[in-house]
Amino acid sequence: MDAFRIQGGRPLRGEISVSGSKNASLPIMVAALLAEGESVLFGAPDLVDVRTLGQLLAHMGAGVRREGRETKIDATRIDKHEAPYDLVRTMRASFLVIGPLLARFGRARVSLPGGCAIGARPVDQHLKALEALGATLHISHGYVEAETKGLCGAEITFDFPTVGGTENLMIAASLAKGQTVLNNAACEPEIVDLALALGEMGVRIEGAGTERLVVHGTDKVRPYRHQVVCDRIEFGTFLVAGALAGEPLTILGGVADHQAALVDKLKKSGADIAIDGPRATVTRAGAIRPVDLRTAPYPGFPTDMQAQLMALMTVADGVSVITETIFENRFMHVPELNRLGADIRVDGGKAVVHGVKTLSGSTVMATDLRASAGLVLAGLVAEGETVVRRIYHLDRGYEHLADKLIAVGANIQRFRE
Ligand code: EPZ
Repeated sequence: MDAFRIQGGRPLRGEISVSGSKNASLPIMVAALLAEGESVLFGAPDLVDVRTLGQLLAHMGAGVRREGRETKIDATRIDKHEAPYDLVRTMRASFLVIGPLLARFGRARVSLPGGCAIGARPVDQHLKALEALGATLHISHGYVEAETKGLCGAEITFDFPTVGGTENLMIAASLAKGQTVLNNAACEPEIVDLALALGEMGVRIEGAGTERLVVHGTDKVRPYRHQVVCDRIEFGTFLVAGALAGEPLTILGGVADHQAALVDKLKKSGADIAIDGPRATVTRAGAIRPVDLRTAPYPGFPTDMQAQLMALMTVADGVSVITETIFENRFMHVPELNRLGADIRVDGGKAVVHGVKTLSGSTVMATDLRASAGLVLAGLVAEGETVVRRIYHLDRGYEHLADKLIAVGANIQRFRE
């Protein structure tokens, strides 16, 4: 397994750019299954998760090619309506194929994802909503076996805003008969981007980015040509890197509005952030002040930025309280940050962070994607050498992270253990 060796304490200076969004690319790639012909997605990041989804689509019979920054998916011939356990277990977004398979072919056999490091992550909201559209579901041997004689539009109210559930239903409802209303829908920028891609396929969607979405089903869909939105979590991770060590660090290609909650917290923590369209310049200005935060669905503070902001708070001048409300087990970075000299105590869904003057390099283990990013950020400011093990998690979600950080002054070496 690969690991990073980081020599901390180097300032980050210069320009760093943001890649296309992983979490927008995945559902948009799945949406290609709706139409015969070749869809083209521009700017999907070259990441393990994107490749895994490409493998799943190819397993089902789609032609999947990557040419430079273009990902081409020809879904004309789909001969397997199944997503096997190994592909869904390694990447939960694979579960999304159930929507388009049902909508286009009337049947699907898709493995239940199972739990993952950050929580149980059930798919009950997806299933309840697909049933409302007229799917018959049967769970057997760990698989959801679904069939329908034709999906019909319905009014669905999610128990809470679920990103994947909203995406799955938007895709399925695109080919349903009539109109589907999704209440209490997720509002994330990835949802808006999916709605744009579906719009390019000929599906009319109203309300994307609000809590009430209306999908007008159609039987005439065509492939899309779509430029994926930039990755707001990568953007946010670089903003935190700038707040920790920017002298100054300019981030190119992010959408500041997509990280408004984070920008607000970073400014309160004392970071100086100047936004000029797609350029955000961050300077660390004096001592880091403690800020409290509570994760929430968009536009609240993103759970996917919680570990990174916690890394910043470990060296703040005071005590901050970080409350995680989305996933029940998303503090696995805490003991690892404590190995670097942080002083964090977890009490249920709350982490109380007592800022320390400096972190000291050590060996830590990455446990999930965003936790790993938090550890890398901590390693950038820790005294001496930090080794972050199991960085395959990072390879799933950050395109060329080490190279990008090295280009702005970080000292990071990738090596095989
Ligand atoms: C998406 O996961 C993202 N993944 C996650 O990013 C992100 O953390 C999450 O949204 C929240 O923003 C992708 O987009 C591929 P949810 P998703 O359905 O869709 C519970 C990363 O690091 N729930 O909004 O799975 C669920 O357990 C990843 O890039 C149910 O109980 O998130 C969780 O507690 C990690 N039943 C909460 O809802 C359901 O049927 C929110 O999950 C569905 C969800």
